[in-house]
Amino acid sequence: MSLCVHPFLEPSSGSYGFVVANPESQTAAIIDAPLGVDDLDEINTHCADQMIDWVESHDLTVRYLLDTHVHADRPSATAYLKTKFLCAQTAIGAGTPDVIGYDRLLEDDEKLCLGHACGRVVATPGHTPGCVSYLFDRYLFVGDTMFMPDIGTARCDFPGGDAQTLYTSIAKILALPDETKIFMCHDYPDGRRSRFVTTVLEEKRKNIHVGNQATCEQFVSMRTARDATLKAPRWADFSIPANLSCMNVANIETLISELHAHQPGQANL
Ligand SMILES: [Fe+2]
Repeated sequence: MSLCVHPFLEPSSGSYGFVVANPESQTAAIIDAPLGVDDLDEINTHCADQMIDWVESHDLTVRYLLDTHVHADRPSATAYLKTKFLCAQTAIGAGTPDVIGYDRLLEDDEKLCLGHACGRVVATPGHTPGCVSYLFDRYLFVGDTMFMPDIGTARCDFPGGDAQTLYTSIAKILALPDETKIFMCHDYPDGRRSRFVTTVLEEKRKNIHVGNQATCEQFVSMRTARDATLKAPRWADFSIPANLSCMNVANIETLISELHAHQPGQANL
């Protein structure tokens, strides 16, 4: 089995989405596809459209449209892609409270097959209660569970988030074979080139929050102190409700205009 992974960067939120494909069966999964948002809160599908073009140019059949969790920082393109790939199953972790509109809610260790290449769901709660990672062969897609080694780990202060739970989830990831490639949704580079992939070995050795055998107590203490300093993501007010409902672009735009209507004084200042 030889899978291939192709990354797509959505620049407005700095989010990465991925296509993982089995060339042998000509099948693919799309993971964490983002919509873009401009400075006027207008939604665009540029990144998702690039994914569609890539999939079609490689003559792939999309089996799954997967989200690792309810993203707070940008709307998901999963519902939009479903309108293009009607036979694909949309899915998110079963531990996500109040989520609606997905075809499947995935439990830990559920199988997801691309031809003869069967991946599996790895429940990795902590950043949110419903976070899952997707393991296809030696490729692990972790969403916001952890980041590049010099950035560390995700915040745990969203509703249902928990630092101790995240530590346990990351320990599960770091127990995978050293050569496992870890693909993430974001990078926050400070003076270096943006990266989206690392390995279990690199994270174990160098992750500033959990590497070098950091204890759970050390991690929870650091994470709690750091989370107390973080602001809400810029587009959280509409991204969270939109993503909980697996909403299409037109419905997200309606949601945004309703939210603005309830904030008089902002739109016309
Ligand atoms: Fe997130």
